[in-house]
Amino acid sequence: MEWLLFGISASGVGLLCLQLKSLSRWVGLALLLLLGGSVAAAKFWQDRTTAVATKAQQFQRTLPREGRPGGYVSSNTCQSCHPREHASWHMSYHRTMTQYATPDSVRGPFNHPPLEQLDSPISLSQRGDEFWVEMDDPDWVARRRANPGRYPAFQQPPRVERRIGLLTGSHHMQVYWVPSEAGNLQHLFPYAYLFEKERWVPFNDTFLRDPNFPGYTQLWNLNCMNCHSTAGQPRPDLRTKKIDTRTAEIGISCEACHGPAEEHIEFFRNPLNRYRAPQGEATQSTIVNPEKLDAQRSSMVCGQCHGISWISDSAEAQQHGFRFRPGELLNQNRKLVRAAHLDQQPYLQEPLRRNPRFLSDRYWPDGMVRVSGREYSGMMESPCHVNGGNLSCLSCHDLHHDQPRSQSALDWRDDQLGERGHSNSACLQCHESIGSDLEAHTHHPVGSSGSECYNCHMPHTTYGLLKAIRSHHIDNPSVETSLKTGRPNACNLCHLDKTLDWTSRRLAEWYGHDQPSLDQEQKEVAAGLLWLLKGEAGQRALLAWHFGWDAAKEASGSEWMGYALAQGLVDPYSAVRFITERSLRGLKGMEDLEYDFIGPEDDRNAVMDQARSIWRGQERQERPEQAGHRLLTDQGEADTARLEALVRTRDNRSMDLQE
Ligand code: HEC
Ligand code: HEC
Ligand code: HEC
Ligand code: HEC
Ligand code: HEC
Ligand code: HEC
Ligand code: HEC
Ligand code: HEC
Repeated sequence: MEWLLFGISASGVGLLCLQLKSLSRWVGLALLLLLGGSVAAAKFWQDRTTAVATKAQQFQRTLPREGRPGGYVSSNTCQSCHPREHASWHMSYHRTMTQYATPDSVRGPFNHPPLEQLDSPISLSQRGDEFWVEMDDPDWVARRRANPGRYPAFQQPPRVERRIGLLTGSHHMQVYWVPSEAGNLQHLFPYAYLFEKERWVPFNDTFLRDPNFPGYTQLWNLNCMNCHSTAGQPRPDLRTKKIDTRTAEIGISCEACHGPAEEHIEFFRNPLNRYRAPQGEATQSTIVNPEKLDAQRSSMVCGQCHGISWISDSAEAQQHGFRFRPGELLNQNRKLVRAAHLDQQPYLQEPLRRNPRFLSDRYWPDGMVRVSGREYSGMMESPCHVNGGNLSCLSCHDLHHDQPRSQSALDWRDDQLGERGHSNSACLQCHESIGSDLEAHTHHPVGSSGSECYNCHMPHTTYGLLKAIRSHHIDNPSVETSLKTGRPNACNLCHLDKTLDWTSRRLAEWYGHDQPSLDQEQKEVAAGLLWLLKGEAGQRALLAWHFGWDAAKEASGSEWMGYALAQGLVDPYSAVRFITERSLRGLKGMEDLEYDFIGPEDDRNAVMDQARSIWRGQERQERPEQAGHRLLTDQGEADTARLEALVRTRDNRSMDLQE
């Protein structure tokens, strides 16, 4: 409106000219129109631009800021002197863990019909380079969750439109953050985009989480930021109830692993220093190279994010963020959680009392970590690392690659393993003597998957990201441990068709283990099937994954698997259904099943029946001797009665694995 008034008054000036000048009134009129019009237009554009600019500024204020004190200078600064390290880091998922939402970074489609799986629908839209959602006001919902008594049950949350500014993940899935009104606080958007399925899925369904849990209020600034960006400081203001979060850099950048580098760049901007012995002590005192630290300190650099600690909510921590800096001892300024040594951590008593599920949602009963992304918590308990052992993350992983952008670098970035990290040489670099007669130790032919150190000592017994992942707690296969903890042993994870009894005999024969006593079921049914059908949800997920593992299919044959595996299609846990579907599709004849792991229950039942009838109709070559171990009858039919009896005794304890 303002620009219109402005135009009218400018035309007034033209009108004045018209009366005073002796020129033709037409010229005056033209002048009037031209002048008035152009002034109005100019004013219009000026205001529009300011409006856009203010809007942009307002939006910027909803985002966590980059840049903080404490000697952090940012990754851009390093590029000119370290182009190769910068290039390999640039390819890594570390860099893109947290990003601002732009057409380049956003993977989920926002030109998409409304998402309607949860109670209230959410509309998505992309407007030019901007990503918008229309949904229940997340601030209101969070307030109600914190204080349910204050809100009458019939009251509907107000709807709001918000522009998405921040996102997490670029490897397996991507989650999005909805800005709050409280400064730059970020609420979790309740759907994630799954790359493997190329679809939106309710966030809770991407976790191994009790379907009866409503989920939590997740705030980026107070939790996720700690491990997903560099040197974050939450900075809530209790007086204004707003938050003003800042980080050194929004992604995981150089200084997360090398420490603040201000002093380092000042030192090397002086040409004299660059020519003086650059590899010398002076360099090392300005910057941390994890490779030059001892195994304990170097692993702690990674352990600050890849480990479990009790995150303090003290006012100090909320203002300044974590105090740990690379090169220091993590256990001196962080409450590391070591579930196998609780007696040494009196400070955990009170927090564990307040959160009694903390341990069981993360650890096996003997204290071995069972969730992904917490490799340090596993490795720190390994015999090769404890008591000053020299195993570190860098024994196997390389955080940079010599030929950035090459094919080998593209393969590398998936797990950032060095050359030595892929094979037995990872272990033989220290346990040389075993390599001199491999078969004597492994009892499997050289070259067999059963002769790879990892497969027996770091089996896939941790869970995360909708898959089984190698445990980083180096350990020995043992039936006794399986019985005590419920953790599947490496032998039965590859020999899916064998009983615990079978394994126990071999371990006694080959390694002199005692043979623990077993019940009838454990002698008659393959251990893999017992965990798959009657285990708790975490065991079911691990086994469902192993039924799709090539090494296990080779060792166990796969023709028999389809009937039993199909049971997972109707599992109460969405993560188990998801993994089951993936493994089932890897079996012959099951490739094209039409299945939706979060679709209606009746449809899922129908697909299970369909998979089973496909299996029944198949010709089978294998004629296993001990068919009963595989839940088959002597005629090779499915032993449905026994299978159903196992499912009925399933361990239905509530699980919520905190990966
Ligand atoms: C002005 C040039 C310059 C800049 C900018 C610079 N460095 Fe360096 N840096 C060097 C030199 C020179 C060395 C020693 C020789 C070498 O290793 O290349 C070095 C060494 C290092 C080392 C190895 C230290 C050791 O003891 O092995 C690390 C790690 C490192 N820099 C990290 C960084 C990071 C991270 C940044 C950005 C925040 C950065 N540098 C910025 C010049 C620079
Ligand atoms: C203790 C550190 C830590 C905290 C806190 C943390 N994460 Fe993570 N997160 C990790 C690590 C480490 C990985 C990598 C796991 C892997 O690759 O196995 C990861 C991976 C992820 C991924 C997969 C990313 C991808 O590219 O596929 C998502 C999504 C994720 N985290 C979400 C969250 C959310 C949401 C929060 C906060 C509620 C959170 N995380 C808190 C350490 C953490
Ligand atoms: C996730 C941790 C991590 C991040 C992020 C990271 N580095 Fe490194 N960097 C390492 C480790 C570990 C080493 C030791 C060698 C290795 O593993 O490749 C290293 C080694 C180096 C070295 C020494 C290389 C040599 O030849 O001795 C330089 C220089 C360096 N990094 C610079 C950078 C720069 C610059 C960035 C950011 C652009 C960066 N790093 C990001 C972990 C990291
Ligand atoms: C500031 C926190 C942080 C630090 C420090 C850190 N990481 Fe990570 N790391 C993460 C997160 C978060 C991810 C998940 C990235 C993703 O998948 O998008 C990750 C991913 C990885 C991956 C797997 C790649 C993937 O995407 O699944 C490896 C391997 C890894 N980190 C090893 C290390 C090692 C070794 C170190 C120490 C030298 C280290 N990290 C330091 C947080 C960190
Ligand atoms: C950087 C060196 C290093 C690497 C790499 C390493 N270890 Fe070890 N390992 C050790 C040390 C040191 C010990 C403790 C020495 C001892 O107690 O005899 C040890 C102990 C062990 C033990 C227990 C020995 C016992 O008598 O109880 C096992 C099992 C083991 N390592 C297996 C492995 C496997 C499997 C790998 C590869 C996944 C591996 N190690 C990689 C250094 C290493
Ligand atoms: C003995 C060798 C070894 C050591 C030591 C080691 N890793 Fe790993 N790491 C592996 C192997 C092997 C894989 C699995 C790669 C695969 O299956 O693709 C892996 C995978 C990972 C992954 C990716 C998991 C996934 O699939 O999402 C992360 C993250 C990781 N390691 C972090 C670490 C950290 C942090 C440390 C130190 C605390 C560490 N690793 C120590 C060998 C090792
Ligand atoms: C088929 C499974 C299997 C494979 C493959 C395997 N191991 Fe073992 N390993 C075992 C078992 C079982 C024990 C435990 C013996 C005991 O309980 O005393 C063991 C014990 C060990 C020990 C401690 C005792 C000793 O003999 O020194 C080390 C070290 C070890 N393994 C290293 C390795 C290395 C290195 C590799 C790869 C080259 C490897 N293992 C491959 C099954 C395996
Ligand atoms: C990663 C897969 C894998 C793991 C782990 C594994 N094996 Fe094997 N195993 C095989 C394969 C494959 C064969 C077939 C022979 C071959 O070609 O290697 C085999 C063969 C055998 C055989 C002889 C064939 C038979 O059916 O009688 C025995 C016995 C055996 N394994 C026992 C074990 C025991 C005990 C363990 C644990 C200590 C174990 N295996 C761990 C893959 C594995």
